[in-house]
Formats: sequence, structure tokens, C-alpha cells
Amino acid sequence: MSLKYFDFLKQIINRKEGDPVEMVRNVDPLGKSEIVWGIKEFKTEYSTRFNMCGYCAPKLDVVRIGFIGLGERGSNAVVRISQIEGVEIKALSDQREASVKASQSYLTGKGIPAAAEYFGKEEGWKEMCNHDDVDLVYICTPWHQHTPMAVYAMEHGKHVAVEVPAARTLDECWQLVETSERTHKHCMMLENCCYDFFELLTLNMARQGLFGELVHGEGGYMHSLLEMNFAKPKGASSDNLCAPEMFRLKENYRNGNLYPTHGLGPVCQAMNINRGDKMEYLTSMSSADFQMADKARELAAKDSFYNQFLGKPFRGNMNATIVRTQKGRTIMIQHDVTSTRPYSRIHLLSGTKGIAQKWPEPAKISFGEEWLNEEEFEKLSQEFTPALVRKIGDFAKKTDEKGGKDFMMDWRLIDCLRNGLPLDQDVYDAALWSSIAPLTEWSVAHYSSPVRVPDFTCGGWKTNQPVNLSLAGGGNTGVRILSNVGTSEVYETHC
Ligand SMILES: NC(=O)c1ccc[n+]([C@@H]2O[C@H](COP(=O)([O-])OP(=O)(O)OC[C@H]3O[C@@H](n4cnc5c(N)ncnc54)[C@H](O)[C@@H]3O)[C@@H](O)[C@H]2O)c1
Repeated sequence: MSLKYFDFLKQIINRKEGDPVEMVRNVDPLGKSEIVWGIKEFKTEYSTRFNMCGYCAPKLDVVRIGFIGLGERGSNAVVRISQIEGVEIKALSDQREASVKASQSYLTGKGIPAAAEYFGKEEGWKEMCNHDDVDLVYICTPWHQHTPMAVYAMEHGKHVAVEVPAARTLDECWQLVETSERTHKHCMMLENCCYDFFELLTLNMARQGLFGELVHGEGGYMHSLLEMNFAKPKGASSDNLCAPEMFRLKENYRNGNLYPTHGLGPVCQAMNINRGDKMEYLTSMSSADFQMADKARELAAKDSFYNQFLGKPFRGNMNATIVRTQKGRTIMIQHDVTSTRPYSRIHLLSGTKGIAQKWPEPAKISFGEEWLNEEEFEKLSQEFTPALVRKIGDFAKKTDEKGGKDFMMDWRLIDCLRNGLPLDQDVYDAALWSSIAPLTEWSVAHYSSPVRVPDFTCGGWKTNQPVNLSLAGGGNTGVRILSNVGTSEVYETHC
């Protein structure tokens, strides 16, 4: 279909919200070349059944948990969760027996009752979900299994906490929304970066209006993981391709912003996205691949295991995406896990009255043309540290090898479930933040053309309430100090 430029503009101006506007080829008004105009929209007929934002599930005095996936992330989650009061670890599931046994021996070594074990089968986790002695399924498996596992668990009456990204395709994002709304089960994506200290501080400051009206935010995931993504799992050979274990590398055949949620989540919370504002559209651009195909060639020359990665269409190394929101704010999200550079998630919030930026470290805040000095920064931190950090921050720092954010996330999740409070991250956040990857794949594949971001709240964003930064109605969950001699002591934390 070919339209004249002004006809096309008319179509854009006259369209109603939700009308599809497909991409059309057009003729440049100056008559110089053929160009592409329009916003791609992935239309869906879905409308909300039940609003899960702000949903209070019935209180659970004890939260009975089953884990799926006990690799690096899942096994650490078992350790963290075992230190929270009011939790019973009922089941451990992993395809690999050794992973289940390792977490089991951690539990029993701490004097915690042994959990049921599920291993050796690709779908052993389904048996775990079929049992009614589990309230919450905690999923730490490769990406392509997140949505099928989360959906199955909700269908079987369980709340779900699922690692990032919760979904890989738009269809999966909608499946999560539809299932959570139909079953009235929470589906929280475990976006731990929302619980990091500076992110929580700046969320509170943004909420109190210190930055004025937020205009722009930036987030990213810049992490030099080239070696790790190509690392061969133990025991792998060319006969045993270890498909699940090489999942990270294989995801890199997709060209877009594949891991957006760490940088994006905290910015969305500060901007009240899905809760007062919403994403409107985005445009995305990727560089070429300067490293991954070369790395595959270099490794394959020495080890035939890597032949499977030769000639694969590896993604561009740097992806930059810009989102525009309904209120006219902009969010820039970057992704680069191959270049040699210091770690960064950026975390920048820029408003009419001030700015905060975490990376490059040290974190800084300004209300003028100079960054605040150390003393001024410290004073603000003291004043605006939110309740969650005051309550559990010190313990989290001591116990959590990743600095504290993971423990604060888990503790808050359990405290909300025990007190029947809404979760900080709902299924709409999981769907929206995860949807950036497939949307950017489309934009990158179409010369960075704009694509409309689906409204997973189906209009609920207009009235949904911002994330609750107080511990009101909860905050009464203690922590367990575990010893190695088979006894565990439970005590309450104090503000
Ligand atoms: N939030 C964060 O900071 C963070 C950090 C690291 C990883 N992650 C996420 O956590 C997830 C897991 O990462 P990881 O580093 O632990 O990976 P991993 O490879 O170490 O662990 C994955 C585990 O899942 C198991 N598994 C695979 N298929 C299974 C099945 N059908 N049934 C049961 N178990 C199965 C594997 O055997 C393995 O033990 C990924 O989604 C990753 O993106 C998040």
C-alpha cells in the first residue's frame, strides 16, 4: 500500500487509540527517495478481566515455596529465602540431580527440614506444581522456560516469582497477564535492581518531588560477559551439546535489547509507568557484531564443541533504545554484554529540578550545575532512605553476596505475601519490562522504525496507584540467623 505523505499524516492524526497503523512505504515529500513512515502496532483484542495492580491475595502466615532451577541463581535464592521467617522450603526441582542434592544438603546442614526433590526429568517441575503444599513457585531457569513454567504454576494455584526476563515474546507477555488475571495469582518478575540502595533512595526522592517533574530517564545493562557467555559447561562435549546450559549464548542470536529489565525497572518505578503514565512507543538501533562471531571462530579452531556457534547471526554488540511515554517523557535503555568496559546500569533520573545518576560510580545527585559534595549527599541519603532499607538494609548487606538488593527483594516479597499486601512488581510490570526485547528486535530489523508499546494494563495505568514505599500493613517478618550446627534461631528485626 502506498499513501501520499499528507494522506498518511491525516491517518495518523485521525486514528483513535488502539487503531492499528501498519507501516507503509511512502515517497519522501521532497521527492528524493522512498522512505518508510508509520508506527508498527502489534494489535491484541485482549481486555482486562481483573486488575492485578494493587491486588491483595489472602494472607499466608507461612509461605510454602517450591524452587525450579537450582543453578547459580536458584541455589543462591534458596540460601537467601532460608533466612526469612515464615517460610517453608517445600520442594526443590532441577533437571540435574546434583543441583537438587546441593541445595538439599545446604538446608539440612542448617537444620532446616528436607524438601521434596524433583530431578532427572525435563518436566519434573510439573509434578511439583501439581502438589497443593506449595504457595509460591520461584523460577530460576533459562529464559525460554520462564513463561511456560509461570503459567503452569498459576494454573495450578500458585503465586509465581520468576527471574528476568519473565517472557521472551509479546505472546508470552500476554499469556502471563491473562493467566494472572484469570487465576488471581501474583506473577512477580524478580527484578532485583529495583531493590538496590541508590535506586530505592532516588525512587523515594522522586516521589517526594525533589527532582521536580521527571523528564528523562536512562537505564542499561553494560556488563562484560563475553567470556562467561561462551564458557563451556562442565562435562560438555561435541556429543553432548548442553542446550540448556548454553542458553545465554543462544539468546544472542536475537538482535535487540535482550536484557532490558535491570536498567529499566527502577526508572519505570520512579516515573510511575503503568501507574499514572505508560509507554507509548519506542525506537531501537543496534550496532554490528564486532566480537561474538570472531569469538566463536577463535574457540571452534581449538575445540569442536564450538562448531555449533559458527556462522550464527549474533546480535549487534551495543543496542540503544528510546521510549516515549504518554506524558511525553523519554527513557533511554542500552544493552551491551560484550564490549570491554566497566559495569553499568546507568540509572539516571533527570527532572525539572534535579538529576541523579548512579553509574559511572560514584553515584551522584545535583540540583544545579554542580554535583552535591559527599557531605550533602550523605545528608540526603539519611533523610530519604525508604522504610524498607531502614528495616532490613543492614542485615541484607551482611547476608547477601550481591550487596543486599536480592535479600531485600525476597524479604519484601515474603512480607507482602504474609500480610496480604500488593506486590511492588505486578504482572503488568513483568510483561511490559520483558516486552522491550521483542519490540526492539522488531525495530532493529526495520531500520529502527517506531513500534507502539502494548498497554498490558488495558487502560488501568490511568488509575493504578504508584508502588507503595511504606511498610504499612506489614514489616513484621523477621529473619533467621542460621548456624552450621543444625539449630536455627529466629528473631525479629527492628527498625
Ligand atoms: N536478577 C539477576 O541479577 C540475575 C542474575 C543471574 C541470572 N539471572 C537469571 O536467572 C535465571 C537462571 O540463571 P542462572 O545463572 O542460575 O543459570 P544456570 O544455568 O546456572 O541455572 C539454570 C538451572 O535451570 C535448570 N533447568 C534447566 N531446565 C530445567 C527444567 N526443565 N526443569 C528444572 N530445571 C531446569 C538447569 O539444570 C540449571 O541448574 C536466568 O533467567 C537468568 O537470566 C538473574
